[in-house]
Amino acid sequence: MEHKCDISYVASRRLSTLARHLEVSTIEACKNEGLNASITSGFDGNSNSVFAHVVKAPEDPILGVTVAYNKDPSPVKLNLGVGAYRTEEGKPLVLNVVRQAEQQLITDRSRVKEYLPITGLAEFNKLSAKLMFGADSPAIRENRVTTVQCLSGTGSLRVGGEFLAKHYHERTIYIPQPTWGNHPKIFTLAGLSVKTYRYYDPTTRGLHFSGLLEDLGSAPSGAIVLLHACAHNPTGVDPTIQQWENIRQLMRSKGLLPFFDSAYQGFASGSLDTDAQPVRMFVADGGECLLAQSYAKNMGLYGERVGALSIVCKTADVANRVESQLKLVVRPMFSSPPIHGASIVATILRDRNLFDEWTVELKAMADRIISMRQKLFDALRARGTPGDWSHIIKQIGMFTFTGLNKEQVAFMTNEYHIYMTSDGRISMAGLSSKTIPHLADAIHAAVTRMS
Ligand SMILES: Cc1ncc(COP(=O)(O)O)c(C=O)c1O
Repeated sequence: MEHKCDISYVASRRLSTLARHLEVSTIEACKNEGLNASITSGFDGNSNSVFAHVVKAPEDPILGVTVAYNKDPSPVKLNLGVGAYRTEEGKPLVLNVVRQAEQQLITDRSRVKEYLPITGLAEFNKLSAKLMFGADSPAIRENRVTTVQCLSGTGSLRVGGEFLAKHYHERTIYIPQPTWGNHPKIFTLAGLSVKTYRYYDPTTRGLHFSGLLEDLGSAPSGAIVLLHACAHNPTGVDPTIQQWENIRQLMRSKGLLPFFDSAYQGFASGSLDTDAQPVRMFVADGGECLLAQSYAKNMGLYGERVGALSIVCKTADVANRVESQLKLVVRPMFSSPPIHGASIVATILRDRNLFDEWTVELKAMADRIISMRQKLFDALRARGTPGDWSHIIKQIGMFTFTGLNKEQVAFMTNEYHIYMTSDGRISMAGLSSKTIPHLADAIHAAVTRMS
């Protein structure tokens, strides 16, 4: 009996079990040629490869920043590229409510790993729609909303884009200039034609409101318009409620179709309801719209890829038919969405206590980011850094669009090991009280030496 605990015995039992699943010829080949030799033989030289013509693609402009950061051996290096929340200690954060929900899921023995339906976890879909449109939303009550679970925000945008390319009469989508770098790629690959509308004014470092109204005003009637629901990425500049109302009136008068991208609900103001207000204004007028929701940031579920696409329709009958077509988009794309992340979200959204605790944790994340804004602003002022840095405290959400140019960004990376996207966007969520002096030194040097 004793030898059963021996590690090598267990390993050899595993191997022999595995061997039973392999064809005899494969085992013989491995024995005769040596496993390594047979693996490497297919890779000797490029010339024989049918993929020899494939050129090396550039890194993704955002995720590539992390690749470069990872290669840097400097102990003071700082990654402000990717929009992921970090604690004061610079560590990734798993929310306490997420840990609790996962604990509940693990101990529930009735849970299985069967496929979800094509549209995903029904309860998750219902609760997600409620979270954005409001518990008392007439559109939900009247069954005019169809919601489909998708692969986080990106997947929701892609499914929505493909649905529109197949079933909507106008194939042009207007996206803000600038916007999240993935938007043009997602919508082009979905089959839409992408145009831009003015959004950001570099001279005021604020909203280019007149340009926005002018560009949407001259868009063809029926065109699709991508709107960041809150905490615009990369600028951190959102319209005021009055400006949203003007945008709504203009869009409805021209029959423009709103497609909201909500990746940061709760991160702008710290309140889920406040951040949902622009979307709710568009739904309250009875008109139609699309919404892509992500739980990557506000629940810290980045890698779980959990999100939803909702389409608000005029009638329940239309919503029903739209859903049937969404299934035809999803089925050949990823067949059905993953179960775990959606189960975590549903567990939190359905339980009053967990939900309340989530809002507290979310607010704490938002507040920490706001305090980083103030600290960075103060640090630059203390150094007498030339320029007006008040946009750092005025902008909202995860990012500050610093106004630093490409050369200044490159200087900060080379000299100070600070990594950010080349457009000068920094993730405030990646900063801490300890790292702010280093960043302020770097900005000060970049501005004074590279202007
Ligand atoms: C504006 C915007 N939309 C959508 C996303 C999608 O993120 P994910 O696919 O991780 O949910 C992001 C992520 O950075 C974003 O900033």
